[in-house]
Amino acid sequence: MSHIVLRCPRCGRTRPADMSTDVCRDCGAPLDVEYLADHKTDGKSNTYEARTPVHNASSGVSLGEGDTPCVHLKALGENLGMRRLHGKLEFLNPTGSFKDRGTAVMISVAMDHGVTELVEDSSGNAGASVSAYAARAGVKAHVFVPADAPQAKLRQIRIYGAEVHPIEGLRDAVTAAAMVYHRQQGLVYASHMLSPYFAEGTKTFAYEVAQQFDGALPDHIVFPVGNGSLFIGAFKGFCELQAAGHTGKIPRLHCVQARNVMPLVAAFTGQAWDPEAASRTVAGGIAIAAPSRQEQILDILRLVEGTAVAVEEPSIMQMQLDLAKQEGIFAEPTSAAAFAGLEEIAKQGVIRENDTVLVPVTGFGLKDEVPL
Ligand SMILES: Cc1ncc(COP(=O)(O)O)c(C=O)c1O
Ligand SMILES: [Zn+2]
Repeated sequence: MSHIVLRCPRCGRTRPADMSTDVCRDCGAPLDVEYLADHKTDGKSNTYEARTPVHNASSGVSLGEGDTPCVHLKALGENLGMRRLHGKLEFLNPTGSFKDRGTAVMISVAMDHGVTELVEDSSGNAGASVSAYAARAGVKAHVFVPADAPQAKLRQIRIYGAEVHPIEGLRDAVTAAAMVYHRQQGLVYASHMLSPYFAEGTKTFAYEVAQQFDGALPDHIVFPVGNGSLFIGAFKGFCELQAAGHTGKIPRLHCVQARNVMPLVAAFTGQAWDPEAASRTVAGGIAIAAPSRQEQILDILRLVEGTAVAVEEPSIMQMQLDLAKQEGIFAEPTSAAAFAGLEEIAKQGVIRENDTVLVPVTGFGLKDEVPL
């Protein structure tokens, strides 16, 4: 018997854990993993272990993802009026972005289920990650990408051997094409947006933060959010740690989006926003006009007293340069957007000078167009 089921966060129905269910068959919401057996966490050695949906961990796939360093960003922090600003260098994951945390678990579960061929759609980073882990697992991957995705990301997806399907139009057209293809071909849709297993993988972010900050969690964590896989996974991880008695509070988790694609910010702040109004942004990783887990993200924001802010294109580009020149960190624009948002959140008075603040630097700069 499996140690997990899939539960719908909207209507509460459960169904057996498999690789073929995209969304709840009753209400259409994306599903979450729920653990039936109590997987022990180890509190004794201060190495807390995240529960995992993988059945057979020894035969799962890994490239050594996670355990990324946290560094103090003194100069940038001073300029933004905060003394305790830290960056967690997620771009040091095996394919250069945080996505590897989720992909490792999603592909390992796929292996548990004997999957040999799968479909994914991505603006680049998730595609590169899935392509790499699929190669290592001996699984054939079809990656649907925007035709205008950064060339470096497209090359990275190709080199690991995935079949790349470029699609013209906005990001949502790419998802639509991937869904048609997986249905027509009878293939598994291993979508980092919908997969309940992906966010289970990103949970490790929270476990590492708890260890790196020695239980005294940051007051604020600021995420660049498109579909919310890191945001949701981090929240799940902090909830597990809290439930196991390892931590007291959950940090205030904040979302940053680009002004050009800001569905979550609009919904959170009660502004009208039409997905048709979405326009191109340098922060391509968060250019999701209709996030499939929007309800879940908004619920989390309210629970943790987070906020959601939108940032302008020039401030994203300026922040990419500031990070590089002031801290020696070359982040891709999507990741720089989180720091631009941090500046905005600080201006709103939500963050105080002595608060401990963490920002995941989600993707490496060479993956995108290089600004100079
Ligand atoms: C570098 C980078 N940061 C952040 C994100 C946002 O992740 P999510 O869509 O899961 O919120 C992405 C997604 O592609 C990304 O590539
Ligand atoms: Zn449902």
